[in-house]
Amino acid sequence: MKITGKELRQTWLDFYKSKGHTDIGAVSLIGDGATGVMFNVAGMQPLMPYLLGKPHPAGTRLCNVQGCVRTVDIDSVGDASHFTFFEMMGNWSLGDYFKKEKTAWTFELLTKVFGLDKDKLCTTVFAGNASAPRDEETANLLIGLGIKPEHVFYLPKEDNWWELEGTVGTPCGPDNEWFYPLDAEKPDPVFPADYVEIGNDVYMQYKKTETGYEPLGRGNVDTGFGFDRMLLFLNGLDDAYLTDLFTAVLQKLEEVSGKKYADGGEDRRAMRIIADHTRTTVMLIGDRDGIVPSNVGAGYILRRIMRRAIRYCRRLGVSSEVLSDVAKIYIHEVYNEAYPLLLEKEDYILDEIKKETERFEATLVTGMREFDKCIQGIARKNEFMKRQNPAYVDETVIGGKQAFRLFDTYGFPLELTEELAAEQGLTVDKAGFEAAFEEHREKSRVIQKGEAKGGLESHSEMAVKYHTATHLLNAALKTVLSPDCNQKGSNINDERMRFDFNFERAMTPEEIKAVEDLVNEKIREDIPVVYREMSLEEARAEHFVGVFDSKYGEVVKTYSIGDFSKEMCGGPHVEHTGVLGHFKIVKEQSSSAGVRRIKAVLE
Ligand code: ALA
Repeated sequence: MKITGKELRQTWLDFYKSKGHTDIGAVSLIGDGATGVMFNVAGMQPLMPYLLGKPHPAGTRLCNVQGCVRTVDIDSVGDASHFTFFEMMGNWSLGDYFKKEKTAWTFELLTKVFGLDKDKLCTTVFAGNASAPRDEETANLLIGLGIKPEHVFYLPKEDNWWELEGTVGTPCGPDNEWFYPLDAEKPDPVFPADYVEIGNDVYMQYKKTETGYEPLGRGNVDTGFGFDRMLLFLNGLDDAYLTDLFTAVLQKLEEVSGKKYADGGEDRRAMRIIADHTRTTVMLIGDRDGIVPSNVGAGYILRRIMRRAIRYCRRLGVSSEVLSDVAKIYIHEVYNEAYPLLLEKEDYILDEIKKETERFEATLVTGMREFDKCIQGIARKNEFMKRQNPAYVDETVIGGKQAFRLFDTYGFPLELTEELAAEQGLTVDKAGFEAAFEEHREKSRVIQKGEAKGGLESHSEMAVKYHTATHLLNAALKTVLSPDCNQKGSNINDERMRFDFNFERAMTPEEIKAVEDLVNEKIREDIPVVYREMSLEEARAEHFVGVFDSKYGEVVKTYSIGDFSKEMCGGPHVEHTGVLGHFKIVKEQSSSAGVRRIKAVLE
């Protein structure tokens, strides 16, 4: 059977709607905080309270197609079947129907709607243990429907029990997994060697406790079928990137690179990585709770994904500008119906991609040179030591300090350095990297505390925040109004900041809003505030701005916030901008001739 992505999505939803289910739509990809997970990893994740008994406003029969992000296998992306973003087609019974209906419907969908051969279907059920019995009930129902008895296998907990890892208090239970031969034409396929899993029905009757499981007191069904996987195998393909989701993207990559996907090898791998990572990037930035690349939390994972895509553009021999073209294909052609929000947020998404690309490209070449130096250093050392002692065992580890320098100065995520190292048969001293990171943090803490004494008169936590906000405001005014705007004075207390700057006229409401937005964007990006001492000449050469030049001696103290703000300043400052909260201008007025005054607060 041949089927497009859009058709498959609709078929799933229509089928379950015909069985009385309500399509509840997809929720945000970003984790909800309650479960402590960074991203949504399964369709059931946001439904947990309802599976545990809370009434759902849409009733007891639900369905949807839910985006999920799982990055544990990111290193495998590039092969024929791994993704960092995928969709899960789901349906749920919240204490409504149970095994009898569910087995019948999955069987009907697979054999009647999708036309799979019932004699080739294989399924697995739970073999039972001390917590829960052998699932003979499901096995008998399946055989009753027409599945060959020799195609129903009992497997232990490792295979046929589903729960979210790590979390106590969550619903879980035995599952029934469905398999079909990857090559449906093969005359006598053997299970499991010739089969792929296409989905599973979880019978969530238990709740995870500290020590084991307890009955939930009701039977739920939690079904998950991989959308991308199903699309691949319903179309008789053996490469998940050959479905219609990626046709236009691969065409684009072939066109700009002049290389052929079908030729395989490293170029094909690069195309898959670019295709996958750009899709995840678009989905994460364009999400309703969208995130942007940064150095912490989910933002850091996004940054890793984006930087990996950028690097593979180079591998493929194409400019990273192609990432925007690929993003547009997803936004306009592939996911325009299922994710209309992407269209609304298009400019924002493309802008974030452009900014991150520019940020990384600016240091990538020098960073790669630095990396090559590390490699050559190790090679030289090995050669030298071998000459001294033929029994010497080669050094194969890149030092933690070097990896940290690549991170700190050139923006190489640790995983990128590890990946580059692996290509050379080397590893990275991870613990050493963490130690260098911690040492760096401690140093800036000490500096910032020390500076606080000699710096601002009042250095409450709030005043320190206002001080950093002053730098952001200064830079934002230069961006929005004019590079010639300079600080003419500032005053801070625990409640507000006041900032004077030269400008000939009142700001318009649009300008005020643009300045606020830019400052808040920089807060959201959670940029580290970096302290460095350098000579006045160096600071000038690096375009640091100084407010009271005459006060500075030979060596000056500088603070930079990414490449957005660079000021000579005594501090103290916060460690990263994310802690500032929300910035709001409450007043803009004249201060004296040619000087304006802004009053602003952090909320
Ligand atoms: N929760 C089940 C899964 O993620 C359906 O596979």
